[in-house]
Amino acid sequence: MIITGRAADIESAIMTRYRKRTAASSARHEEARRYLPAGDTRSSTFFAPYPTYMTAGEGAWLSDGDGHRYLDLLNNFTSLVHGHAQPDIVEEAADQLTRGTVFGTAAAPQVALAQHLIERVPGIDMLRFTNSGTEATMMMMRAARAFTGRDIIVKMDGGYHGSHDFVEVSVSADTATAGPPAAQIEGRGVPVAVLNAVMVVPYNDLAAMEALLRERSQGIAGIIVEPMPNAGGMVPPAPGYLRGLRALADEYGVLLLFDEIVTLRLSRGGFQEIENIKPDMTALAKIIGGGFPVGAFGGRADIMGQFDPDLHPDFLSHSGTFNGNNVTMTAGLAAMRRLDQAAIDRINALGERLRTEINRMFQRLDIRAQCLGYGSLQQIQWSDAPIRTLADARRAGQDIGKLGQLLHLELLNRGVYTSNRGLFSMSTAIHEADLDFALAAIEAALETLKPYMREVTPRLLAR
Ligand SMILES: Cc1ncc(COP(=O)(O)O)c(C=O)c1O
Repeated sequence: MIITGRAADIESAIMTRYRKRTAASSARHEEARRYLPAGDTRSSTFFAPYPTYMTAGEGAWLSDGDGHRYLDLLNNFTSLVHGHAQPDIVEEAADQLTRGTVFGTAAAPQVALAQHLIERVPGIDMLRFTNSGTEATMMMMRAARAFTGRDIIVKMDGGYHGSHDFVEVSVSADTATAGPPAAQIEGRGVPVAVLNAVMVVPYNDLAAMEALLRERSQGIAGIIVEPMPNAGGMVPPAPGYLRGLRALADEYGVLLLFDEIVTLRLSRGGFQEIENIKPDMTALAKIIGGGFPVGAFGGRADIMGQFDPDLHPDFLSHSGTFNGNNVTMTAGLAAMRRLDQAAIDRINALGERLRTEINRMFQRLDIRAQCLGYGSLQQIQWSDAPIRTLADARRAGQDIGKLGQLLHLELLNRGVYTSNRGLFSMSTAIHEADLDFALAAIEAALETLKPYMREVTPRLLAR
């Protein structure tokens, strides 16, 4: 899309302001690119013209090398539920550091965190730790295949579960095909052969799931679903949807696998507790490591028992040099203990306030967009039409030029850190006054961008 006129001026003004404010980031980026492709180690944290290089984090605030402070509404993509350098977590992790990070043998801290998580999450009788959510969903899917003796996992069209090959399928929802979505390899390098073992259905569509199970359930090991898909757009489940999936999984004899890597934070026991559903297996990560790399997968004792050589001569192998390391486990337990019901209620209320006020703002400014989400997790969608499937969410983000990117940069210019997909995640370090600051910045940024919308994406303006 070629952008001209007033829209081009706005884009150039936002970019110029960003570049002027962030000379240290620009210099650091130029250096970093010599050693790291795109100057970074995560595709999700890179953005044009170059990412802001943060130098410190404390509570709800980040600082960059040019002396600016930013209210952090991203919290490392939802994982830092207590913000940065929370003093109790720092103290416990530091104390553990002095006593050894990992022993190359089993150790007590992992038992303590496992016990805590099992007490919280209804669908987990036993679990194993990994170093990332990617490994957690990979092992969960492998365990489901081994348990059922079947190969196929059904995932949601547009669902994200990490970056191993068997979930790099249809991460971008199919907006082109009329009728059932076609399963598509997400990017180069993923073998086409994975399509033999992955099928996709639209999220929030029980009829489509039932039709697939009726035809193919004999080959299907399980259904993987994020109760509220986050990368898919923070689209809440329709009333009865998750329950309906549980019933279908039971009826057709397949396993139900919840990815609660992001949604665990929404209640003590995750979305499954909110909906009073027990999945057969659950993947966790992000908040359970207290700011350190982590993942976990768990579920029914009979499924998890496959990893026990005492119970199964042909047990499933599961290794990882730093799995369950002492520092992550200690920090994770400190973080999870602090995330009690009162803390969860408080951050959920903050998130709901953010959503309500952004939606009011859209009405005030005659912008046909909406903020979707639940509790402490929210996301802007560039459409006011109902969004049920992840294809609906993807469509909302199409044909908007650089709107998402410019809102992100303009918020950075105004001292608020989010992501360019408009994701917001609350932390316990955020207070109402911080939210006032964020809302004022969002409103001012949207005002700045209105003339851009008028030229580039007029469908977004009611008047
Ligand atoms: C729902 C979901 N599943 C899995 C993952 C992968 O976790 P990790 O980045 O720790 O590998 C993520 C990461 O954002 C996620 O959001």
